[in-house]
Amino acid sequence: MSVKPYVLTERGVLRYEQVTYPMEERGLQFGDGVYEVVRLYNGTYIWLEEHLDRLYRSAAAIRLSVPFAPEELAARLEELRRLNDVHEDAILYLQVTRGSFPRAHAFPAENRPNLYAYIEPMARKRNEMTRGVRVIVTKDVRWEYCYIKSLNLLPNVLAKQEAVERGAFEAILHRDGIVTEGSSSNIFLVKAGTVYTHPATERILNGIVRTKVKQFCGELGIPFMEEAFSVHDLAQADELFLTSTTSSIIPIIQVDDTTIGSGQPGAVTQSLQAAYQTATQPAARNA
Ligand code: PDD
Repeated sequence: MSVKPYVLTERGVLRYEQVTYPMEERGLQFGDGVYEVVRLYNGTYIWLEEHLDRLYRSAAAIRLSVPFAPEELAARLEELRRLNDVHEDAILYLQVTRGSFPRAHAFPAENRPNLYAYIEPMARKRNEMTRGVRVIVTKDVRWEYCYIKSLNLLPNVLAKQEAVERGAFEAILHRDGIVTEGSSSNIFLVKAGTVYTHPATERILNGIVRTKVKQFCGELGIPFMEEAFSVHDLAQADELFLTSTTSSIIPIIQVDDTTIGSGQPGAVTQSLQAAYQTATQPAARNA
């Protein structure tokens, strides 16, 4: 079992073996819930506040209440980390659903949401970060509200599976030829020193790492444009990279069969990786 033994639930902290939910759980039957994935480096949560902000925004967007108030949830997650004695690189997975009730599409009469959160060790993707990865391009068939971090991930699952079967790290999604994001990441294009990415509309998830890349660009004097680009533009890019909580910042060196730029991680990507590294070093963060 790779999951740490203590799990936070709507009932408080339980042992992993004690966490069970009935068949009629609305997350299972309808995907009626929202989630977050938070990074830990050396046992320290990275940008927890930003993730919790987004969790409450996602929940509000589907008219779901989170069992704990933000400060209490943050305190309980800290307790969870402490109880599990986490000192390594890991992730926190947290989901909230509309609860367990006899199956009916409409909201249950009673407000009794479920929540669980657990921590699982996860190493940094060092090889991918230094060498870069290959991606494929596929159609974005998701609904219109991709800004909500909802449990409905079937299109994302199918896109990622297609990538895996084609030997790629990630699938870049497009709507009518316009790149939106990755199946579980945000996508960035560098051209003539400027970083481009899809604007944070309802069509993408505004990644926490995405917001940090925007900030790093500001600090480093790198022009940052929230301007969509097309599948066609990918081949002309000087650099491409992707971001996510689990991946951090990863260079993309090949799209389908097309090599990007020199086929090596680019200078802009590397300077953003360095900024990420500095920002996520606990010592640097506390200084
Ligand atoms: N995925 N876009 C999508 C569709 C995502 O699922 C994710 C993250 C991102 C990047 O967001 P962030 O920088 O906040 O991690 C963008 C998580 C990691 C997951 O589902 O596992």
